[in-house]
Amino acid sequence: MNQLFDKAKAILEEIKAVEIPTANDLEQYRIKYLGSKGIIKGLFADIKNIANEQKKEYGLLVNSVKQEAESRMELLRESLQGSSKSETNDLDLSLPVNQKLLGSRHPLSIVKNEIIDIFSRIGFVVAEGPEIEDDWHNFTALNTPEDHPARDMQDTFYINQNPISLLRTHTSSAQVRTMDVQQPPIRIICPGRVYRNETISARAHCQFHQVEGLYIDKNVSFADLKQTLIYFAKSMFGEDTQMRLRPSFFPFTEPSAEVDITCFICNGKGCSICKKTGWVEILGCGMVDPAVLKNCNIDPKVYTGYAWGMGIERIAMLRYKVDDIRLFFENDMRFIRQFASA
Ligand code: DAH
Repeated sequence: MNQLFDKAKAILEEIKAVEIPTANDLEQYRIKYLGSKGIIKGLFADIKNIANEQKKEYGLLVNSVKQEAESRMELLRESLQGSSKSETNDLDLSLPVNQKLLGSRHPLSIVKNEIIDIFSRIGFVVAEGPEIEDDWHNFTALNTPEDHPARDMQDTFYINQNPISLLRTHTSSAQVRTMDVQQPPIRIICPGRVYRNETISARAHCQFHQVEGLYIDKNVSFADLKQTLIYFAKSMFGEDTQMRLRPSFFPFTEPSAEVDITCFICNGKGCSICKKTGWVEILGCGMVDPAVLKNCNIDPKVYTGYAWGMGIERIAMLRYKVDDIRLFFENDMRFIRQFASA
């Protein structure tokens, strides 16, 4: 009999000692002690085993266990709410947030993609090559043997003297690499970074980007070259654009020309960008020299071809009216963000 009294007293002590760290634990506590199948219900059920003269005393004891359990639960609930309240109070909504900055495409990438887009519409495919080149692919195969004065046109960063390795000075080397492994018809454009040992200024940099093009097939003529370039100029700079060719020299083309377009800023009237001439230069081009074809095992009696090379920075500077090439390499977000495209 006393055992039942002892059991109820022990539970009373147990309840007083309960610690509740989380709201979930509080619910477990309620089910365990106060639930419909809980311990306290069990204590009440035990009353039938108590002698009549002790029933009153036992009833009072079990009631006090129940009250203790209920008030303890209330207390614990309050303390849980209190602690979550204090967590909310720690939150300072006035603190600056960590901003996640969205990147944007670099203006040179935008212009490069546009150039690729324009030429791929008329059947040109992209061909790439390494930035570290050997002498053959950068110079000799392109009709510029050692000691040829034309090498001075492109001040070169040499990496190794024997055998010669260098940072490519133009992406024409990628044209040679394509001709190495492919017979005509060849219709490629070669975008990529190139390097020249030039003093850095607003107009020149020691690294820049080019897109060069090459078309070799039977009966390719200078008229085809002209037509392709006028199509490009109008697509890039607008339908009203006029183009003119000036005779020039490149070792790998014969004849060679430099290409000007009407200054689209002043519409040919003359401004500071076109130095009052009404024309701006955009690229160099020509008919592929038969010696270059021979160097690449393509028969110049059967095939002819044209090629051109343009600087992406130059096109981007004209397009966006940027007057300092160095801005493209400084990665100042205030500059780069202005060109974000959709
Ligand atoms: N490689 C020349 C340069 O970097 C540009 C060029 C001119 C490329 C004429 C060509 C070309 O393919 O036919 O200055």
